[in-house]
Amino acid sequence: MEEDRRTAELARKAVEMLAFSYAPYSRHHVGAALETEDGRIYTGCNIENAAFGPTVCAERTAFFKAVSEGVRGFRRIAIAGGIDGVAADFCAPCGVCRQVMMEFCDPDTFEVLLTREDGAVKVFLLKDLLPMGFGPASLHPIK
Ligand code: THU
Repeated sequence: MEEDRRTAELARKAVEMLAFSYAPYSRHHVGAALETEDGRIYTGCNIENAAFGPTVCAERTAFFKAVSEGVRGFRRIAIAGGIDGVAADFCAPCGVCRQVMMEFCDPDTFEVLLTREDGAVKVFLLKDLLPMGFGPASLHPIK
């Protein structure tokens, strides 16, 4: 089925991104593949820093690449991670990345796909990973 093929491709891209991870301090490599509403894919990896604080996660790299190019609509994100780039177990997104997803995605429909390198995928809705999330609808943006 076409949807299964697309899911497998998104998961594979997240695993492929492990190769680009820059994680000499934690050795925890993470890759992400973010699918836009119109079917494009933005990828990301974690990028660490000797000062630790500037480190950015794979998920946020993917989101910020997309948003910086004017994309605002997202369907789902696949994430893979593991020590030395071996994604043997499922790797869940950190709280900060869940909050960034909350900024740009509908928590009722946006899907987070946890991916292993053997191709196994676990699917969660953002609302289940960030219950009662605080997002744009919680504020009154000045237009
Ligand atoms: N990391 C991610 O890339 N995504 C997450 O959601 C969790 C953590 C990275 C940050 C850091 O480079 C390494 O994993 C260890 O925390």
